[in-house]
Amino acid sequence: MGAAPRASAAARAAPRLSPPRAGSVLDLVGGTPLLDVTAMGPTLAPGVRLYAKLEGCNPGGSVKDRAALWMMRHGLATGALRPGKTVVDSTSGNTGIALAMIGAALGYPVTLVMPENVSRERKRIIHAYGARVVFSSGMEGSDGAILRCRALVADDPERYFKPDQYFNEMNPRAHFESTGPEIWRATAGRVTHFIAGIGTGGTVMGTGRYLKQQNHAVQVIAAEPDDALHGLEGLKHMASSIVPGIYHEGELDLKLGIPTDDAYNMVYRLGREEGLIVGQSCGAAHLAALSIARTLTQGTLVAIFPDFGDRYLSTNLWLGWQTHP
Ligand SMILES: Cc1ncc(COP(=O)(O)O)c(C=O)c1O
Repeated sequence: MGAAPRASAAARAAPRLSPPRAGSVLDLVGGTPLLDVTAMGPTLAPGVRLYAKLEGCNPGGSVKDRAALWMMRHGLATGALRPGKTVVDSTSGNTGIALAMIGAALGYPVTLVMPENVSRERKRIIHAYGARVVFSSGMEGSDGAILRCRALVADDPERYFKPDQYFNEMNPRAHFESTGPEIWRATAGRVTHFIAGIGTGGTVMGTGRYLKQQNHAVQVIAAEPDDALHGLEGLKHMASSIVPGIYHEGELDLKLGIPTDDAYNMVYRLGREEGLIVGQSCGAAHLAALSIARTLTQGTLVAIFPDFGDRYLSTNLWLGWQTHP
């Protein structure tokens, strides 16, 4: 059964008649919308607002377009990326898609190392952009891909430009210069809490730094899987992972562990109650945001929703939906 009908101004609004024009897909990176998802927390105090920043609206379909674009542009600016070079990186999916898209748009070949068990949709999207894929062991997760990629580059260092999202300061910088300012402007400076999952940590570090620079009191909260063995593709359980060089836990106000099942169930609810089909890390971020929101009487919380759910339709995420009431 569906939820009770909700009145919404948006349901009555005319369609937008002035969509943006761009000369390249790269000009469409960023500028993603904030969606008010306050209604998902019926017990919240009236002064609390909860927003999801829909990073699936980027042209490559995820938050990773930002980091990939900044890293590639920096490579071009410094000459580290120049004609004759192949872009290579290890990625659990979204960064690979972003690099493949940007490589195609700029005319650079891209080789990606990823665990063999990433979703079929992701592999196909990457192939569709014309990139080459090297598979690492699915059992070794993203760390296995990192090690395999290092070996590939060591064999022929001159051939490759490796953005290295785990250690490249352009990754958090992308969020410091785009995600952070967008949130600040979209909330008219009212944001009180920022919530993001941790993959490389680029999003939470860069956005958090910008928001704290505007207002010291903004709380920066990270969501991670609550266990080393988890099903939250794109996220890292820090205590059992290689810690990224760009990740500095001391800059966080709080880190919350989210169980995989709870994140999946939240994804199903977002589909039914908000008309939003998203990836599992969105479920995790939203749960973290809700748990904070419930403790507040006033606040404007913004959680990053890294991607939409269509690239996970063949994964375990949607197997569970069959049995969910
Ligand atoms: C689906 C998904 N969620 C969250 C993240 C986390 O982003 P970050 O690497 O900026 O921490 C990623 C990154 O790969 C991702 O792919």
